[in-house]
Amino acid sequence: MPIDYPLGWAGPREKVLDRGATAVAHPNIALIKYWGKRDERLVIPYVDSLSMTLNIFPTVTTVRLVPEGQADTVMLDGTSASGEQRQRVIAFLDLVREMAGRTEPAAVDTRNSVPTAAGLASSASGFAALAVAGAAAYGLALDPTALSRLARRGSASAARSIFGAFAICYAGRGVGAAADLSSYAEPVPVAKFDPALVIAMVNAGPKPVSSRAAMRRTVGTSPLYRSWALSSKADLSDMQAALQRGDLEAVGEIAERNALGMHATMLAARPAVRYLSPATVAVLDSVLQLRRDGFAAYATMDAGPNVKVLCHQADAARVADTVHGAAAGCSVVTARRGPGARLLIGAEQ
Ligand code: DP6
Repeated sequence: MPIDYPLGWAGPREKVLDRGATAVAHPNIALIKYWGKRDERLVIPYVDSLSMTLNIFPTVTTVRLVPEGQADTVMLDGTSASGEQRQRVIAFLDLVREMAGRTEPAAVDTRNSVPTAAGLASSASGFAALAVAGAAAYGLALDPTALSRLARRGSASAARSIFGAFAICYAGRGVGAAADLSSYAEPVPVAKFDPALVIAMVNAGPKPVSSRAAMRRTVGTSPLYRSWALSSKADLSDMQAALQRGDLEAVGEIAERNALGMHATMLAARPAVRYLSPATVAVLDSVLQLRRDGFAAYATMDAGPNVKVLCHQADAARVADTVHGAAAGCSVVTARRGPGARLLIGAEQ
């Protein structure tokens, strides 16, 4: 029987070192998007973002320390990771080791239950789980804010997956250490808002351009980027008010315009970054038709062609049916708000 410890508490250190540490985290979907970094090394966003953590597609990650002299190993869904994926995990371990003042190499084993790199935020759940497991394995006792800052260094959206339900991630102020300290996520307490998120997976293949490269190109070349970033500030305060009212129509409208604006900045990049496919547009048309038919249904898309549709739980089955029929080969899964990242010590026993 796994024992649940509070977030951020590493447990008895000897036990952690013997057995390694295992953590679970869930993906999140941004209702106000993060797009663009003002500091690539420290992974500091240009804009604040706000998301809902999901109750599906968890990532479970184990970090075990291995004897000095061995190389770090990174297993991703049962196969040895290579290239950029491996590099990002090792750079993250280096950061954890530097923070902990330790040098032991590690064996990392990550299991995703969502297709990696399909625009369904596996890097968010992945780096949130790695931050919690890595900090515990190296004996770092970090509070949730520090864990979210650490997760951000792996992937900025991961800072939000440290928390359950709704979370805001601050772009932070200043540069260097000041920016690093002030860019973190925290929960947005929202009592009465518990919508469904219907995910229409129109293509589970890897994305044509990584979000990292696409952001860089958008910030560097898109004439629309600045105005989206400005309008995103207004979207964020409207969104916070709408969430407090539990007003699904307003939350959905703001999320949809914010996401479409983000994709507009990419379409205006040189050369254009286009994640949305004909199947995406077909699903978007079906969402519009649902609204004409009187259903509150609103779409958001990330760095991929898949569409996430926010709606009332009572309408989720109807919405799922409609979007499923809109594009050939589209598979559908329905999520709700889910839990924050946590340590699972003893889960591997
Ligand atoms: C479109 O967090 O994956 O999903 O920080 O470079 O790892 P890096 O990017 P990542 O980007 C997510 C972008 C987005 C919007 C969002 O989740 O806010």
